[in-house]
Parts: sequence; C-alpha cells; structure tokens
Amino acid sequence: MTSDIRRVGVVGAGAMGAGIAEVCAVRGADVVVVEVVPAALEAGQSRIEASLGTAVARGKISEGDRDAALGRLRFSDSYDELGDRQLVIEAVTEREDVKLSVFQTLDKVVPADGLLASNTSSIPITRLAVATGRPDQVCGLHFFNPAPVMPLVEVVSTLLTSDATREAATAFVAGTLGKSVVQAKDRAGFVVNALLVPYMLSAVRMLESGFATKEDIDTGMVKGCGHPMGPLTLGDMVGLDILYGAALSMYEEFKEPLYAPPPLLSRMIEAGHLGRKTGRGFYTYE
Ligand code: CAA
Repeated sequence: MTSDIRRVGVVGAGAMGAGIAEVCAVRGADVVVVEVVPAALEAGQSRIEASLGTAVARGKISEGDRDAALGRLRFSDSYDELGDRQLVIEAVTEREDVKLSVFQTLDKVVPADGLLASNTSSIPITRLAVATGRPDQVCGLHFFNPAPVMPLVEVVSTLLTSDATREAATAFVAGTLGKSVVQAKDRAGFVVNALLVPYMLSAVRMLESGFATKEDIDTGMVKGCGHPMGPLTLGDMVGLDILYGAALSMYEEFKEPLYAPPPLLSRMIEAGHLGRKTGRGFYTYE
C-alpha cells in the first residue's frame, strides 16, 4: 500500500462525487470519475467546470490552475478505467444495495493494494468492507457539502480497518487535499451528523408544532448563533431525502427519539419536496 496517493478514482458524479473529484484534481491528484448514467456523467462534468469557474472568479485559483485541474480529470462510464488507482472514493446514491454492488466491482478492478473509501453518511462502512476481499483496506471518507468549500473530512475506521489504511487516508486528506480531519468510529452519524441531524430535526419539529415560522427559525440561528445558514435552509441545500436517510439510520442504530424523522419531513419527501434540487423544500427556488 502506498502512502503517497496520486492516482484517485471517484465513483458517482452527483453533487458529492463531483465536488470530491474537483477537490482532488485542484490539489494535484490525477482523477478518474466513473459514472454509469450518461446524463449524470455529463451533469457532473458541467458541475465541476462551473464550480472551477466560480473558484477562478472568486480568486481562489488562477485560470492556469483551473486548466491544469481540468487536465487531471478524466470521465468514464467504465469501471475498467480504475485499474491503476491507488484510492477510489465511492459517492453513489445513498442505497446500501447499490453501494454493496459498487464495492464488489471495485474489489475486482482496483489493484490489490488500492484503498477503497465510501463517502456515505449513513451506511455502516463495515458492511461495505466485508463485501470485499480487502476489508482492512476500506474506510470512510466523509466530505461535507459543498465539498470544494467545506474544509472538513471525517476519516471513519471500522474494527477491520488497518492502521496503515487509516494513516494513508488521513495523510491524503490532510496533506494532499489540505482539509482538516476528524477521526470517527463506524457508528451512524459519525461525529458531525450525530450532532447536526438532531439539531435540524428539532428545527423541523419547531416548525411543525407552529412554535415559530421558518424564517424566524433560520434567522434565529444565523443572527443569534453565527451559523452561515439556518437549519431549514441547510436542509434544503443538503436535500431532505438525504437528511431523512441520515436520521433514519441513526434512529435504527440508537433507538433514540431525538433521531426519529418528524412526520412533516416524511410527508415532504413523499410529496417530492426534496429541497433545492427539486425547486421546493421549506422554501421555493427558481
Ligand atoms: N470553489 C472554491 N471556493 C468557493 C467556491 C468554489 N466553487 N464557491 C465559493 N467558494 C468560496 C468563496 O470564495 C468564499 O470564500 P471566502 O470566505 O474566503 O471569501 C466561501 O467559499 C463562501 O462562498 P460564498 O461567499 O459564495 O457563499 P456563502 O457565504 O453564501 O457560503 C456556504 C455558502 C459555504 C454553503 C455557506 O453558506 C455554508 O458554509 N453553509 C453551511 C454548509 C454546511 O453546513 N454544510 C454541511 C452540510 S451537512 C453535510 O454535508 C453532511 C451530510 O452527510 C448530510
């Protein structure tokens, strides 16, 4: 296993996969993005180009750096392109059956000494690890949305993750990517979501009970506590289906009422109001 990871794969080109691929490429890694849905592959590519454009416009990187980053990115619909990768980060849809199948495929195509990581926020890393023949080389790398901007990554170790894997993954995230690292154990919610999700659910309950308006709940936390955005705006940005899935997995794990998704959240998801991505959540979007 190499401690100097330069060749990275990212599976999934949604908001998280594209963001992770962008961060890796900007920081000098050679990146292959695999996405099997053609429209999603194209959308992911456009998302990265737009985000890099914003980074240039904001003075975060030069035009030369942007072009170099784009030059380090390749997009493919084939897992075979991952045959020389030292680390592959999975960021496909948050469904256990889909992720298990991805990990089984990765185990076949990624070199035997390659590391496999998942960006899941709610599926136990252990279950993904034991689906492979290399559970000691599997860990969680949990990025935050939007990945190019948020400076934290949780490195998640299971009972089976080797010290060498944890150290190599941590060195890559902290060194190559320049992100801050929090070490977490393989428990639903890790560190950050275990604190963030009950807070967001409390905001939904407060709204549902009629205690305060959505605007006052959000303004309260922005102006009263210095948060960059209020909990309901944040829910719309993260995606209410993602919030619901994270809450449910924590509720199943700990059986604590504070993690139980409130009925309003369930109804909004059933109604297709998933937040910004569907144009409607707690707020409406163009
Ligand atoms: N590339 C690089 N930098 C970028 C960028 C890009 N594409 N887009 C914006 N930036 C930079 C900006 O230049 C700016 O930098 P400075 O502060 O140095 O000027 C910074 O990012 C903020 O950008 P903006 O001023 O445009 O935007 P904003 O002030 O409205 O902030 C936000 C947007 C970063 C999303 C902010 O509102 C925020 O931090 N919100 C909270 C996000 C959060 O909590 N995320 C975690 C979600 S939970 C999760 O992800 C885990 C899970 O499993 C559910």
